[in-house]
Order: sequence, then C-alpha cells, then structure tokens
Amino acid sequence: MKNLKIALTKGRLETGAVEIFEGAGIDCSELKHKGRRLVFHQEQNNLDFFLAKANDVITYVEHGVADIGIVGKDTLMEAGKNYYEVVDLKIGKCKFIVASKKGINLYSGYNQKKIATKYPEVARKYFDEKGLDVEIIKIEGSVELAPILGLADAIVDIMETGTTLKENGLVVLEEICDISARIIVNVASLKMKKEEIEALINKIQDYVEGQN
Ligand code: PRP
Repeated sequence: MKNLKIALTKGRLETGAVEIFEGAGIDCSELKHKGRRLVFHQEQNNLDFFLAKANDVITYVEHGVADIGIVGKDTLMEAGKNYYEVVDLKIGKCKFIVASKKGINLYSGYNQKKIATKYPEVARKYFDEKGLDVEIIKIEGSVELAPILGLADAIVDIMETGTTLKENGLVVLEEICDISARIIVNVASLKMKKEEIEALINKIQDYVEGQN
C-alpha cells in the first residue's frame, strides 16, 4: 500500500474533516488530540496528515508535496486550477455574499463603487459578469470593518451563520454562490497512486453520501 500525504486546512474545517475520515473507517485519534503538532503519521492505512492554511493546502497539492488536500471552495475559486477537484464533502457550508450597510445601492449614481474583500478574483469576476465597473480593495481579514469605516461601499465575503454581519450592522445585498469543503488531488498522484487514492476517495464518498 503506497503512502498518501494529505493536507488538511487548519481551523474551521478541521473537526469536520477528521469526522469524515473517521466515518470512512480511518482512525484519527492522534489528530483529535494534536496539541500544536502539525504532522501525523497514521500507520494502519499508511497515511501522513499535515495541517496547513487553506491557500497553502492548494500550494502543497499543486507541488505534489501532498497527494490530497481538503480545502474550502472559496479558497479554490480564488486560486489557480492546477489540481483535480474530486469530492464535495458537504461540510464547512457557507455562502459568498455582497454585504454593506442597509440602504446602500451599488447600482445607483455615477461614481465607481469600492468593494473590499479577501477574495479579489471572486469579486472581480462577479462584478464583471454583472457589468458593474468597481474598484476592488484587498483586505486580509475582518472585512466587515471596511464599509463601517468608509473604506469601501460594500464587501464580498463568506457568510456562515450571518452573526458577524448582524453584530456589525451590515446586511446581505446579494448572494453570489454556495460554498463547501472539497477534496483536491495532485494531477500526477492520481496516476502514480491511482489505486490508493481511489480506494480512499470511494470510502469517503460513501460516507458523505450516507450522511446527506
Ligand atoms: C469569516 C468571514 C466573516 C465570518 C463569517 O471570517 O470573513 O468575517 O467568518 O462567519 P459568520 O457568518 O458565521 O459570522 P474568519 O472568521 O475566517 O476571520 P477573518 O475575518 O479574520 O478572516
């Protein structure tokens, strides 16, 4: 059985991803009690797990350092496409939205509107398709601050529960699309480790389908 290296996104998706691996019959007890460790070897199935930031999961998979990655569709939509996207894990469900202060109309007036976001590619593509010429301002986090402080007219961001928007007095103006976590696979790995990857993905897929 060839070894598979799996990059998991640290943080929000972590618990759900571990639950899915366990549901697919893969013991993840070490991962569940990980402390600050980032790398785990799972002897039984010859798997190596490591934890990385979402964007870096894609980088590791694209470079073949990881055979498989688990990462949110939001990050995938913003990044390159040098990998196969194979399974929708149906966890980490959220939406891409346009939000702002109540009463803002992005389509009125002649001034170019400013959009703050952690996702400039997604925002650019969305407004291009709408035919609205906007200025995109890249922000690293706490994007909700931008319309409050007057940096931007609106934001493009992900919304999960809606609490952050609500508690900061913002409302959804438009819904862009649904998002969830996906499995991605390195292009060469899918050929070189076809049997192992397909076996693992089938187990995961069966589990996910049974849950939904
Ligand atoms: C994300 C997103 C929103 C929030 C939405 O930020 O950018 O701010 O979560 O979640 P909610 O609808 O459940 O309130 P994240 O927590 O990843 O932090 P960041 O702003 O520092 O990137």
